Formats: sequence, structure tokens, C-alpha cells
Amino acid sequence: MKLPGLPAHEATSAQLSAAYPFASARELPAGRVLIGRDLTGGPFIHDPFSLYSAGVLTNPNMTVVGQIGKGKSALVKTYLYRQAAFGRQLAVLDPKGEYGPLAEALGVEPIRLSPAGGVRVNPLDATSAEPAGARQDRLVLLRSLAEATMRRRVLPREHLALEVALDRATKAATELRRSAAPTLVDIVAAMLRPESDAASSVGVSRAVLEEDGRDVGLELRRLVRGDLAGMFDGATSPLARLGQPSVAECRAGVPPLVVDLSAVYHSEALGALMVCAAAWLQSMTSSSRALTFLVVDEAWAVLSDVAVGRYLRSSWKLARAKGLANIAVCHRVSDLSASGAAGSEEARLAEGLLADSETVVCYAQPSSEIPAIAAALGCSEEELKMLASLRRGVALWRVCGRSFLVEHLISTRERSLVDTDGRLRGGELHG
Ligand SMILES: Nc1ncnc2c1ncn2[C@@H]1O[C@H](COP(=O)(O)OP(=O)(O)OP(=O)(O)O)[C@@H](O)[C@H]1O
Ligand SMILES: [Mg+2]
Repeated sequence: MKLPGLPAHEATSAQLSAAYPFASARELPAGRVLIGRDLTGGPFIHDPFSLYSAGVLTNPNMTVVGQIGKGKSALVKTYLYRQAAFGRQLAVLDPKGEYGPLAEALGVEPIRLSPAGGVRVNPLDATSAEPAGARQDRLVLLRSLAEATMRRRVLPREHLALEVALDRATKAATELRRSAAPTLVDIVAAMLRPESDAASSVGVSRAVLEEDGRDVGLELRRLVRGDLAGMFDGATSPLARLGQPSVAECRAGVPPLVVDLSAVYHSEALGALMVCAAAWLQSMTSSSRALTFLVVDEAWAVLSDVAVGRYLRSSWKLARAKGLANIAVCHRVSDLSASGAAGSEEARLAEGLLADSETVVCYAQPSSEIPAIAAALGCSEEELKMLASLRRGVALWRVCGRSFLVEHLISTRERSLVDTDGRLRGGELHG
């Protein structure tokens, strides 16, 4: 390196990295999707599945954090659009209703859920061809929903009542409707009015089983009756009614799926509703042979509730086994790492989620967030200093402990997919 007036100095990249951290970041193995410009020179390409195959990553999950309006969703939208060109399956949970243009560009309509919308998706649809696997996933979901709405842990006897109700409802759905999936309506009915033979199968009286299941049944009833009814309380509407092409039209694959929850964005139960939608998206993509991205935008709504956060964490852990890369979008690392007091379950959950996310994309953060970022990501001093002043579209990418400073480039063709400012100017965007 030679600067005017100074003697030339030579150093290896290992030595140089002490002064300028990004020089230490060796290139990632070739992947598929171009993100933009590595500001130390050259293109920046990232694909979690290629990196996983190359042994660079041990999990394909990704977390995107950053202040409002810095370009998090724009990155995710173009990333998905570019991944779709390589045959990747996409499933998006869209709480603000801003992925419509992406859905349209991919030839589908978003599935807009609202209490009076007339279309439903069933969060209890099977996530596995194995009945035991599907049963386990349903139990985890029901338990999380009950705990989220009751704001406390489910007691052992309540869990038993839930298991009995699930088995009863699954059997009835198979026998009466020839459907393998029970609905939340079936579960609530089985909990509030258990049958004597179901009770005797677990060695209690009908009255005891009814009492044990009462609180959980009444809480789940909110999703079936009242203000939250009409979205998750029945069999899944046919794809055509959901505005989707048939599976055959998508050449035997599952169509790209965008679930728009903007109609309930301000509900206090948004976290629980997002978990219902996420469970359904998992069921839809579980039969897909393609590698899949499952995006939860505005993930703070899920993570701010420990019970639904627990559900998200358990599904992230299964990512590798299911050929699934989860992407969560949040404002702050402290949405994750400080969602509870140190050592609390909330804090452990959040730390686990970051640990299960080997790609973290960090847009500009206020200086108050720097300690949380330093603790969670182990960034260098130089990187931390830079974070407060990153301009829109530029982020620090941490990929398996390596750092890259990347400018996300958007093509003219992609502009219409990402323009949330325009919608804001037009007063359309919520929140
Ligand atoms: N790399 C980029 N280059 C140019 N413009 C960009 C870039 N990234 C985002 N923008 C523009 O910035 C605006 C805000 O972007 P985006 O909606 O992605 O922000 P966000 O971080 O998701 O905000 P929020 O936290 O409110 O969800 C959009 O209109 C988008 O077009
Ligand atoms: Mg956004």
C-alpha cells in the first residue's frame, strides 16, 4: 500500500485484518444469488443451501435486523425473487401486506386473511407424511397457542387433555370427513365436551377430563368464535379460492405462497395469528421437493411473546432436516437478545434463535443497540463503529462468523417489488 508522502508498507491479509476487518473475510464459495457489491471490491453472492453443501454453514437460517426503512424487506423481496429463478420454493408471512408486488411478479395472488374474508387456512394441516410426526407438530402448535393466549405454561393435566382432544379430533376427522386433518373447531369441541371413552382411555372420569381441558379449550375458542374467528377455524379453502394456481399448474410443485395478515396487523393476538399462518405455510411446503425459504417479516411480533417464540425456535431447529431456510426480519438485535432478563427463558430462546441463524444481516442500528450486537454477533470494534452510520441499502453481513460490508443492488425491473416509500407517500402502508 503506498500513500503520497508515506513510505510503502506491505502486510499479509491476516496482519491487515487487525486494522481493517473486512480484509480478513475470504470469499465465500460460489453460490447462486447475487446480492450486490461487496464494498471491499467485487460482487457479493449468497445462497445458504450452497454454503451448507460446501460445509461453510451448519444451518441455512438467516436473520435480518435494522432500523426502520433501511432496506430489510427490500433485500428479502429481491432475494426471494432471485432465488425463485433457481426453482426455490417460497413461503412468506407478510404482516404488513407489502409482498403483493412480489407475489404478482411470481404469478400468484397473496392469500389475504381477515375475519370476514371468507377464506381459511388450517394450521393443523399435516406437516409430515408420518402420522406421528404430524401429531407431534400439531401438539407443539396447540400448546404454543394455548400458552400464548393464557399467558402461562400449560399444566401437565391440561397437556394430557389437549393430547386426548387432538387424538379424538384426528380420528373423527378421518372417519367422518375423510380428512386427515382436524380443525381448531374440532379440538375446541373435543376439549369442552370430552367423551367418556376418551376419558377412560387415560384413566380419569369424563368430568375430570372436562375440567382439566376447560381453560385451554376456552382460550383456543377465541380463534374459533369471536373477533379472531374466520381465518384459521376450518378446513383449508381450495387453492383456487385462495387465489392460487393449482399444484398441477405449477408443474407439480407448490406455488409460491404469500400470506397477508395486514387486516389483523394491530390485533393484540398478532403473534398467535402469525404462528397459525406459519404452521400452515410449513404444512404446505412440507411436501415440496424444492429447497424452501420461509420468511417471517416483522418477526418481533412473534418474538415478543415467549410462547409463540418457543414455537418459532422449535421450527428453526428442524430447518436442516426439512430442507428449509427460515428468514426472520426484526428491527433490533435486542428484539431477540434482550426480550427477557439475562438467563430467563425469553433470553435463552432469543439467543438460541440467533445461534440457529448462521447468516445475520445487520443494517444501521442506533448506538443504544451496539452492546446487544457486540454480545450477540461478536463483531469487531471497527464493525460496531460503522454500524451506526450505514446508509440505506448497505449492511454488515455476518456469515458463519465472517464479515462482509455489502451494498444491496436493486435492478430497474425489481424496483416495483420493493418501493414501500411510494406506498407510504400514498398512505397505504400500515404501522
Ligand atoms: N438497496 C437499496 N437501494 C435503493 N433503495 C432501497 C434499497 N433498499 C431499500 N430501498 C428503498 O427504501 C425503502 C424502504 O425499504 P424497506 O421497506 O425494505 O425498509 P425496511 O427496513 O423493511 O423498513 P421497515 O422496518 O419499516 O419494515 C423502500 O422504498 C425501498 O425501495
Ligand atoms: Mg420491512
